[in-house]
Amino acid sequence: MQLSQKDENSLGILPAQSRFASIGGRQSNAMRRLPYARFLELLPYRYLAPIAGDSVLDLFGGTGFASAAMDQRFPKQLLVDLSPDFAGLRANGARALQGDATSEVMFSRLPAVDFIICHAGFHHVLGESGGRSASCNERRLEVLRLWKQKLSRGGRLVIADVPSVGTNPTTCLGRLPTNSLTNFLATPWPHGSACNRLVTSLQNPTSLGHYLTGLHERLSQLDIGDADPAAFFDNAVSKLSASGHEAHFAAPHELLALFDSAGFSNSVAFVAPTPWLFSTRREAIWFAHELLGLGAACATPDHLTESQEATLASHISRYLNLKIVSDDLCILSWHLLFVMGENP
Ligand SMILES: C[S@@+](CC[C@H](N)C(=O)[O-])C[C@H]1O[C@@H](n2cnc3c(N)ncnc32)[C@H](O)[C@@H]1O
Repeated sequence: MQLSQKDENSLGILPAQSRFASIGGRQSNAMRRLPYARFLELLPYRYLAPIAGDSVLDLFGGTGFASAAMDQRFPKQLLVDLSPDFAGLRANGARALQGDATSEVMFSRLPAVDFIICHAGFHHVLGESGGRSASCNERRLEVLRLWKQKLSRGGRLVIADVPSVGTNPTTCLGRLPTNSLTNFLATPWPHGSACNRLVTSLQNPTSLGHYLTGLHERLSQLDIGDADPAAFFDNAVSKLSASGHEAHFAAPHELLALFDSAGFSNSVAFVAPTPWLFSTRREAIWFAHELLGLGAACATPDHLTESQEATLASHISRYLNLKIVSDDLCILSWHLLFVMGENP
């Protein structure tokens, strides 16, 4: 993926958007301090990536944690994010562009890629009058068509996002893919911890169906409880975040219909449990506080005041669940909707 500096400069780079810029630094800090907390969000990709190919476009990429974990399989990476906070990722070898991932100008200049991911970003794609109108779905369809044009033949798009309020966490629409890529995730995992034992127990399944069944079983043994992350965003994050949270979280059938209308084939939509993993309860609350940009910034878990901790804990217990499993494992329930489509 060769782009000259001149090309990059003309890719529809936008002025810094203060809403996203302000929490970008906090997100980076949270992800740097606890790089394994969101590891389970990545495991479904090993079943969703195209079998052949080496280039990935990480749209709404943020800190780049999703694409960075795939660099064994997809060494040619390009990340696009609106916030200038993430442009520094270039320094780590990943190529990052500050720009609007829904812009035609941007896409007209990009090379074709084998794999496009949009992890936790599609809820930001709204219509002229926000998320609750037909214009939102029209805009989303335009954006999906734009992205599809950049896929090589057989290339795949995966959107992973929080599903609409009340989505059944076992939903699955369409046929799950049967391929599985071994040695897919480059992210190292610390040995010897309870997190490690949990993740190791989930690494072996050879199909997505087995993976999801095993994960549901494992989590019900641990008695983690259900979550409704969309209700958490709508009712808690929107109040606690200084910048609010304008979003529309789609239902599985809604996104699947858009993939079909955009011309993707073999599309599938399923909800996967993706609980966040921590050593302590305080770490868990601090991570959510910083990743989601709630209240005043706290550089480390020790900086979280008792009142900040209590406020967020009460919202978490209402919409999510926090379970101390053992001395060194605390799990925050969470799930994501994954929708995958292929460019025929
Ligand atoms: C919830 S974060 C997800 C980031 C990352 N993918 C992750 O999972 O950690 C959403 C990201 O989308 C970016 N963003 C919002 N609107 C965008 C747009 N139109 N184009 C590109 N990035 C955008 C924000 O700056 C933010 O980093």
